[in-house]
Amino acid sequence: MPNIRPRRLRTSETLRRMVRETALSVDDLVYPVFACHGSGVREEISSMPGQYRLSIDELVKEAQEVRDLGIPGILLFGLPETKDECGSEAYAENGIVQQAISAIKADVDDLLVITDVCLCEYTSHGHCGIISDGCVQNDETLELLAETALSHARAGADIVAPSDMMDARVRAIRSRLDEYDMYDTAIMAYSAKYASAFYGPFREAAECAPQFGDRKAYQMDPANAREALKEVELDIQEGADVVMVKPALSYLDIIRQVKDNTDLPVAAYNVSGEYSMVKAAALNGWIDEQRVTMEILTSIKRAGADIILTYHAKDAARWLQGTCPP
Ligand code: PBG
Repeated sequence: MPNIRPRRLRTSETLRRMVRETALSVDDLVYPVFACHGSGVREEISSMPGQYRLSIDELVKEAQEVRDLGIPGILLFGLPETKDECGSEAYAENGIVQQAISAIKADVDDLLVITDVCLCEYTSHGHCGIISDGCVQNDETLELLAETALSHARAGADIVAPSDMMDARVRAIRSRLDEYDMYDTAIMAYSAKYASAFYGPFREAAECAPQFGDRKAYQMDPANAREALKEVELDIQEGADVVMVKPALSYLDIIRQVKDNTDLPVAAYNVSGEYSMVKAAALNGWIDEQRVTMEILTSIKRAGADIILTYHAKDAARWLQGTCPP
């Protein structure tokens, strides 16, 4: 007969609730959204069922819904009118993201606007920086990233989130923001961003697949963990306010190690491919979408994430409120 019975604490839901170690909350969630030009546009992204490209009028309604669900913030991506070699619309004063920020800030209270700072959605070649000699040029790109972040901050962004993986971009952005007195604009750095195949559906959504080569010369090798800690450390030294690990699910060990090595809030990005796999299996009736989603989000939190960026955010918020039948 066992003399110790861990099952005793699992005998009822009330007891399980009392000893539960991790509680996912709507406060942990951030919802990524895609802004596009036009009006009345609400175009479903075929590789990401339930996610849309939204023109600004539709995006403002979406932002209200997100706020009403109690989700603290959105992560904003933009689809430009035209793309060029140096991604001009990324830092244009009237670019899609800049317009979207002002419209949301004018209409929706109490919703944090976090902006993705990168060039890849805006460049004709689809890379995250300036190309010369067939390579992404780190130092020349910094200037454009700093300019992009400043334009977002001026339009009213609360947090800028550089996702390009150029070296020293957090420092470049922080000093540009401070130079223009934008001291209160925070930086959420995509610190440990891996060169991942899980971004596939996003690249369709944002039409930003690289036109030649891949991103392995700037995003991290999925095999490396110590290097992630180095990247996080550098971003902290350069002035990051929040550090991020991306993707989340294949990198739960990295989230935990980052958490144990910093006092800053740790964000984890539950990326497009992770979302689409759940959706595809659920649409086929192969898994229970709600239970799988909540298990995934809880595991990301258990690994150490304080903030979870996820396309499941609206569904999860409803499930947490119990307004959606199981
Ligand atoms: C831009 C960017 C990407 C994602 C977020 N910002 C794509 C990439 O790096 O290729 C991926 C998000 C997702 O897959 O959900 N650099």
